[in-house]
Amino acid sequence: MTIKAFVIGHPIAHSRSPIIHRTWLAEHGIDGSYSAIDVAPAELPDFFDRLRSGEFAGGNVTIPHKEAVFALCDSVDPLATTIGAVNTLVVAGGKVHGSNTDYLGFLGNLDAKAPGWSDDLHEAIVLGAGGAARAILVALRSRGVGKVHVLNRTRANAEALVGDIEGLFAAHGLDSFADLAPGAGLVVNTTSIGMHGTRFDGLDLNLLPENALVTDIVYAPLITPLLADAAARGLPIVDGLGMLLHQAVPGFAAWFGIRPQVTPALRARIEATL
Ligand code: ATR
Repeated sequence: MTIKAFVIGHPIAHSRSPIIHRTWLAEHGIDGSYSAIDVAPAELPDFFDRLRSGEFAGGNVTIPHKEAVFALCDSVDPLATTIGAVNTLVVAGGKVHGSNTDYLGFLGNLDAKAPGWSDDLHEAIVLGAGGAARAILVALRSRGVGKVHVLNRTRANAEALVGDIEGLFAAHGLDSFADLAPGAGLVVNTTSIGMHGTRFDGLDLNLLPENALVTDIVYAPLITPLLADAAARGLPIVDGLGMLLHQAVPGFAAWFGIRPQVTPALRARIEATL
């Protein structure tokens, strides 16, 4: 019997998840399907009833449903609760379990592109304090990064986030970058500003140590202004596309029973759509 999976969102037409999962299904010769389904917010409860009927093995959840599906799941992974968002659903025995694989995507991307990145990493700077920043903080905490500084335009939002997540996190305004940069081995931009081709004013990347890794979770454009500036200064950079690809791995493994690989060919295929 064909194993079925999905991604729900509203709108959903631009999701790259179908390409990723269909590539893996074909690669492994699995009798499975992965479809993009447009579900409006008001239709979510009905969609969950459909899920409990066992039609699907599970699926992904994207904007704007990542928070709303919480209340509809029968159980939710504790880390997804900390992150405040569910992006992966697994259906078993008529129950829907929600988890969040974005933090694993972040870790998988850096592990693949910058092996050893978290060894001896004592201090990191996270730019932004929105929903995406939560997943990054959970990821960094899982690797035991000693001190993570959250820098945000609105300092109060950074403080609220840091207060929500246990760990060695400190909240700052963006103007603290100059003081903190010399001690930082990693800079992660979790805001969407790179999507609009803009950059933070006044971040002097020259103040970072010469081997500090700079990464952005935005993948369109692939090289955001922050990454371009970092590369121009000779710093190592990792773009955000790998995070999208790696976050898809645990879902595929749960639904279809095979752990797929993030290959250069898959990456090229998605890159061609950007
Ligand atoms: P997401 O949930 O996808 O992370 P979000 O909740 O809208 O998105 O969070 C956006 C983050 O980017 C916030 O930290 C926001 O800063 P504020 O808390 O001050 O709003 C930050 N951000 C967005 N646009 C920005 C800009 N032009 N300059 C600086 N920070 C910006």
